[in-house]
This record gives sequence, C-alpha cells and structure tokens, in this order.
Amino acid sequence: MRVVDLIIKKKQGQTLSREELHFLISGYVSGEIPDYQISSLLMAICFQGLNDQEQSDLTMEMLESGDRIDLSSIKGICVDKHSTGGVGDKTTLVIAPLVASCGLKMAKMSGRGLGHTGGTLDKLEAIPGFTIDLTSEKFFNQVDEISLAVAGQTANIAPADKKLYALRDVTGTVEAVGLIASSIMSKKLASGASHILLDVKVGDGAFMKDLKSAQNLARAMVSIGNLQGRKTIAMLTDMDQPLGSAVGNALEVIEAIETLKGRGPKDFETLCLEISSELLLMTGLEKSKDSALKRVKEAIKNGEALNKFKQMISYQNGDTAVLSDYSLFPTAKSIIEVKNKTSGYVKKVHALAIGNAAMILGAGRATKDDTIDQAVGIKVLAKVGDYLEAGDVLATVHANDKNIEEALHQVEKAFEIVSEKVEANKLILDIIN
Ligand code: URA
Repeated sequence: MRVVDLIIKKKQGQTLSREELHFLISGYVSGEIPDYQISSLLMAICFQGLNDQEQSDLTMEMLESGDRIDLSSIKGICVDKHSTGGVGDKTTLVIAPLVASCGLKMAKMSGRGLGHTGGTLDKLEAIPGFTIDLTSEKFFNQVDEISLAVAGQTANIAPADKKLYALRDVTGTVEAVGLIASSIMSKKLASGASHILLDVKVGDGAFMKDLKSAQNLARAMVSIGNLQGRKTIAMLTDMDQPLGSAVGNALEVIEAIETLKGRGPKDFETLCLEISSELLLMTGLEKSKDSALKRVKEAIKNGEALNKFKQMISYQNGDTAVLSDYSLFPTAKSIIEVKNKTSGYVKKVHALAIGNAAMILGAGRATKDDTIDQAVGIKVLAKVGDYLEAGDVLATVHANDKNIEEALHQVEKAFEIVSEKVEANKLILDIIN
C-alpha cells in the first residue's frame, strides 16, 4: 500500500477500506507517515466526505490507538454526556450531580477549553483546592462511592485523535462531519459508558452553524454509537446566543450552583432538566418523560443534587464553603456595565463575540499553553426576545487588567436591538435517536 494512492483514491471520491484506514492511522501515529500527506488526505475528506462505514471504521481505528476505560466493575448504569461546545455551556456542572443524585453513575473525563469555548476542567478549577488530577484507582473508587467523578484523562484515550485534531486545527480541516463525528465518538466509546447523550450545539457560537449540518453530525454520531452497542441519542440545542447568563470560569460555577439551588437562569435550567430527564428515560430509570422530569425537578428542590455536587467537591479536595459563600471564588477587580443605547427588542446576542470577549479578558486560551484567569468573564443580562429601554444594562464585564477596552467593544457589538417584536429562541431544536 502507498499513501499517495490512498490520497488519490479519496480525492476521486472512492471509499477507503478498514484495512486502508488502519494503514493510514497507525502509520501516522507511529510517525512513519508525515504530516503533509495526512493533511492532504484530510483535505480530500473535507471535499469528498466519508460514508457511514468509513466513519465507523475511522472511529474504531482512533479508539484502538489508545486505552479503553473498563467501567464494568462499577455497579449501576454508567452514563456519559457530551456537548460539542459552546459559550456559557456549564451544563456538566449541573447535569452530572443531578443525574448521579437520581441513581445513575457519571464517570466523566472532561477537557479544557480552547478558543472561544470553555472547558469543564477549567471551570472546576475555579473552586479553591479542587483537583482534576485523579489516579485511575481514585477515579473508580469515587464513582463507586458517590456515583460521580469529573476529572482530566486518567488514561491514554485515542492518541490518534489527539494528533489528528492538532493537525486539523492548523490545516483548515476541522469542519467536516465525518471527521468531527469520529473524533468525538472515538473518545466517547473509549470512556466506557453504556449510554451516551450528545448535546449538539447549533448556531453562531457552535461548530455547526445551521440545523441541517448539525443534524448530519448528530445522525453520524448516533449511528456510530449504536453500531458499537452503546445506546446513543443526540439533542440539538440552541447556541445562537450564550447559554444562561455567565461566561467565564468562576462566574459559570456560581451560576451552576445557583441552578442546583433552583435559582438558575430559565434557559440554562430548562436545558439541564431536559438533558437530565432524557438520561433517566434512555437508561430506563424512569418510564416516561413526565416522570423523569418530575424526578429531576424534585432532586433540585429537595437539595439532593446540590448535596451530590458538594460531595464531589469534597472528594476532589475543593473547598465546599464556596457553595454558600461566593466571595471565596476568585473575583475580578472591576465590573463594568454595558448599557443599551436605543429602546427595543433584543434580536441577537452573538455568542461568538461574547465568547471571544471573555477569552481576550483572560477566561480562555488562544493557544494551549496560555494560562487562564478564573475571575474574569461576562454576564449576559439581556436575552433574545427581551424588551429593553435605553440605558438598561445589557451585560456586565468582569475584568482584571487585560484587554478591557477591546472586550467592551466586542460585547457592545454582540447585541442587536430592533424596534419590532422578536420571539425568544427555541432551546431544543431536534432530538435524534
Ligand atoms: N470536538 C472534538 O472532540 N473533535 C472535533 O473534531 C470537534 C470537536
């Protein structure tokens, strides 16, 4: 087999076999095949696509390049939930303790943020003392004892994906459905959960800007998961404006705690309840959507979900006093209000602009070696459909010394105000199972 022949084959729109994909992926991971040939192949895939079989084969090749987590020793049903990434997306912080308090097991390996999207690990590290570095043994014991752990990778998961993703990032080949689907699913399958719920974000702040491409991605991932014997469903949810109000690490953890106390922003709370109830339903823990919703609402109301979060913080060495005293979180030096100039309805809150503003304040990374400022971020106080008078506050910018003027400018530009009435965004756009 010659790499160049396989590149030409894909360029001509033909199908690559499992054997050919194995040759390409294993050769790339071992260093025998150079970046420039794989870059060319990736570009051919971007133009010609991958069929269902190729997507599934590529996923398995990437999965088999590393370790698989075996969760069979954990008693109970292990679930995983994955978001394709968005702005203000702190759902794991609520959903993980919520479903764990309802009887499911969540052994979750999360990632860090890159670019305008945040990562769960960075958010959790805003809690003083909290560690995301657990040994495999501690990770498993914790899930056994309290049903819940959210940590960094404890094993070498899908190294082929890591190498390929870094190459895709710099060769303009991230946005191909087959490549994204196999990248995400190789890691989800390796993580060992029997039930996987995918939150596929759609809109300005997401990878997938329109519903049709998000549906294609969701179908591809659901098909890969189910083919591999994992019950997989995808919910397509709005990312045309930031989720909830808070964007930025400490601010987002505070908002998640408020939501666990039943006082979260409506859109964020609704999404957490919808995803959590869907998890109870798909695992058979509840028999109907109504009873599942009732169960998760009850776990918020009676404090079980908050208590589960407290247990996790305590097991992972964090200071549980933050739950009642938010001043223990890192706080920014200045809080600057961004005000509305003309009265009217909010037509858009550009998620990408808000995410970028938070990133340049220091909440996110432009490169993977950047350090993060846990305190800074944005609170979005007006959402699509709201009516505002001139002078009302659209957002607050929580800043230390970095890039304040530029961030304020981006936040101002993120809001579009119009005189005619605007409907609120639909939160859940589709469910694929
Ligand atoms: N997230 C991933 O893990 N992989 C992709 O390709 C895109 C988003």
